[in-house]
Amino acid sequence: MATVKKPRAVPSAEFDGRPLAPSRPGTVLVLDDEPLMLSACERILRNAGHRVIPVDNAPGALQVVGEEAVDVVLADVRMPGMSGLEALPILKHRDPELEVIMMSGYATLPEAVQAIKSGAFDFLAKPFEDIEKVQQAVSRALARHRMHRARELPEPALAGIVGQSPVMQDLFRLIERVAPTQSPVLIQGESGTGKELVAHAVHQLSSRRLRAFVVVNCAAIETLFESEFFGHEKGAFTGAIQQHVGLFESADQGTIFLDEIGDISTYSQVKLLRVIEVGEVKRVGSNRTAKVNVRVIAASNHDLETAVRQGAFRQDLFYRLHVVPIQVPPLRERAGDIPLLARHFLALAAAKFGKPVTRILPEALACLQAFLWPGNVRELENTIERAVILAAEVTIRLQDLPAQIALGESSILLPPNPEAPLLILPYVQAKERAQAFFHQRYLSGMLLKTSGNIARAARLSHLDRSNFRRLLKRWQAH
Ligand SMILES: Nc1ncnc2c1ncn2[C@@H]1O[C@H](COP(=O)(O)OP(=O)(O)OP(=O)(O)O)[C@@H](O)[C@H]1O
Ligand SMILES: [Mg+2]
Repeated sequence: MATVKKPRAVPSAEFDGRPLAPSRPGTVLVLDDEPLMLSACERILRNAGHRVIPVDNAPGALQVVGEEAVDVVLADVRMPGMSGLEALPILKHRDPELEVIMMSGYATLPEAVQAIKSGAFDFLAKPFEDIEKVQQAVSRALARHRMHRARELPEPALAGIVGQSPVMQDLFRLIERVAPTQSPVLIQGESGTGKELVAHAVHQLSSRRLRAFVVVNCAAIETLFESEFFGHEKGAFTGAIQQHVGLFESADQGTIFLDEIGDISTYSQVKLLRVIEVGEVKRVGSNRTAKVNVRVIAASNHDLETAVRQGAFRQDLFYRLHVVPIQVPPLRERAGDIPLLARHFLALAAAKFGKPVTRILPEALACLQAFLWPGNVRELENTIERAVILAAEVTIRLQDLPAQIALGESSILLPPNPEAPLLILPYVQAKERAQAFFHQRYLSGMLLKTSGNIARAARLSHLDRSNFRRLLKRWQAH
C-alpha cells in the first residue's frame, strides 16, 4: 500500500542558544551550479514549507535579490564565473538584512569559514549528512532575519514625529524644553515638513494636553476673522442668527494653533496681538469681555521676518510670537531619516489599504533617499501610499515609484541628481540601467513627437528604420 508522504514540520531551532518555536516559512534562494544539488535543496526546503527560488549562477542570484523579497540565500562556494564568495558582499550590500548560508565541499571548507568572517550567517558541509541540518540552519537564519527586521520597530520618534537625524534630535530637545512653558511658539518651515505635527507635540508634552487643541487655518477664515476668533452675540450682524462661541473661547485652558499666520490681514493682526497680550476676548455685538487662558502656537511657511521687513506683517505681533522660534528643517537636510520615514509610512499605508506590503527594495530605497523632495515629508508620505497601491506583491520596487524619483530626477526647481541611485550598483549594471533609462525616454519621446510614426521618428533620430525598430525592441520603449 502506498503511503502518502506528509510535508515535514519545520524543526525547532535555536538562536543564540535559546530555543525558537518552529519557525514560519520564508523565501529561500538556493544558488548552486550543480543541478542535482539544486533540486535536492529545493525539495528539502519546500518540504519544510519554504518558498524556494533555485538559481544556478551568481549573477542570476544577484538579479533576483534586487527584484524579490528574499529572506535567506543558500549559496555554493565554488561555481564557474562568479563564485559564491564573490557574490556574498554584493548580496549583503543589496540587502543588508539578507542572511547567507554558504555550502561547501571539504576542499573549500576553509573558504566557507572565511566567508563567515565576511558576513555569512553559517556554512554547511557537503554532502549533507542529515537533511535536518539544512532545515535547521535555514530556520536559524530566518529567525535572525526576522529579529533584525523587528529590532527596527521601536522607531525613534517624539510624540509621533519620526526622526533620528541630528537635526531632528535637536528639534526634539527644543520641543521638550519649550513644551512645558506657557510661552507662545512660532514654527516655521517649508510646506509639508511637519509643522502641524510639531505644534501638536508641543501641546501633547505640555500640562494642557488634556484640554483642547484647536487648529485654525488662518488663510481660510480671513473674511469672518473677528466672529470666528472671538465669537458673536445673536443678532450682532446680518446672519448672526445664534450666539457663537469663538475659537479662542473654545481653546480656553488649552492650545490654539494658528496655521498660516502670515496670511492674515494687518487689521486682524492687531486684534490678535491684543488677545495675546491682554488674554481677553470680546464677542462681536457684546460689551462684555471674557478672560481666556490660551497658549498660542503659530506656523508659517513664508519667512515672517521678510514679511515684517516688507511691511506685510506687524513687527509687534512677530516679536510676541517669536519668543521661541522653531525651524523645521526640509527633508533634503535630513535624508538619513528617509528610510525610517518610508518604513513608517509603509506600515501606515499597508494598514490603511489592507495590503500586506512590508518591504522596500534597496534600489527603491536608494532612489527615495537620493530624491530632493520639494514637497518634503508630505510628498514622501503620498509617494509611499501610491507605491503601496501599485505594489504587486509584498515589496515596493523601483517601478512602483513615480518616474522622476526612480530616474533620480528632482523638481525642475532643483538640480537633478541622476547618478545617485546608480551609485549602489556595480559599474556594468549601473551602465545598463542608465542606458535603459536613456533609450526608453529618448525613443518614446521621439515616438510621442511623431504620434507613433516610426519612419518619421527614425528620420528625426538620423537612424534608419530597421535600426530604430531594433532599439525599440531591445529597450522595449513604446
Ligand atoms: N517627522 C515626521 N514623522 C511622521 N510623520 C510626519 C513627519 N513629518 C511630517 N509628517 C506627516 O507628513 C504630513 C505633513 O505634515 P504637516 O501637515 O505637519 O506639515 P506642514 O509643515 O504643516 O505642511 P503645510 O505647510 O503644507 O501645512 C502629515 O501627514 C504628517 O503626519
Ligand atoms: Mg500645516
